[in-house]
Amino acid sequence: MKVITLNDENEIGKVIGDYFCTLLRENPAAVLGLATGASPIPTYQRMISRFNAGDVSFAKVRTFNLDEYCNLPATHPQSYRSFMHAQLFAQVDIAQNNTHFLDGNAMDEAAECSRFDALIEQLGGVDLQLLGIGRNGHIGFNEPADAFTQGSFKVQLAPSTLEANSGYFIDENMPTHAMTMGVGAILRAKEILLVATGAAKAEAVRAMIQGEITPQLPASALQNHPKVTIYLDPAAASLLK
Ligand code: F6R
Repeated sequence: MKVITLNDENEIGKVIGDYFCTLLRENPAAVLGLATGASPIPTYQRMISRFNAGDVSFAKVRTFNLDEYCNLPATHPQSYRSFMHAQLFAQVDIAQNNTHFLDGNAMDEAAECSRFDALIEQLGGVDLQLLGIGRNGHIGFNEPADAFTQGSFKVQLAPSTLEANSGYFIDENMPTHAMTMGVGAILRAKEILLVATGAAKAEAVRAMIQGEITPQLPASALQNHPKVTIYLDPAAASLLK
């Protein structure tokens, strides 16, 4: 694992956004693994500004998002599909049908998870995966558990995740379940970049990098991946020895 501490989230977004753009200039049809939440927003802003400057095109890119809420219409403003549309897709030249999500409303959940996993393999696997980390060490929505999961699955969100994300749901309850790529599938990405900022992530960051590999801290599985870079701000890095 390579660990890089930069001044703040904007500096991190600039470095990672530029890294994605360099990949796309070499491989315009790359398969990107994308995350939602606060952590990737500066990265997406950098991608948009590089697109507006004429430096990069997303016309041939294929994307897979890590996760999606269950029992929330895809058109709901807090669905992860809506998030990606607002934060990136509507502002670049990506083809809508090249953007892939788990359908959190699928009737046959197992079939939906198999469809998604098979499509990733069919398109050659994820070239570059962007991740955030939960306060409890989750990646995607792989919450602390007794075993690492492989393929996509439906998960009950942990109390700390509900607490962290409920502020996005004004006047309504947030979904209690989601569908997520499994840890095994995340580790199959050829390269992974993870962003963590703020003191609330410091303990999870310490355990991910310097703790034992355990499904109780799902991000610790990244220690087994040959090409991972962790980008931190000073607060998120503050508990590293
Ligand atoms: C989102 C996701 C989650 C978030 C994590 C951190 O697609 O997979 O693992 O990356 O919950 O969220 P933020 O960045 O909002 O702190």
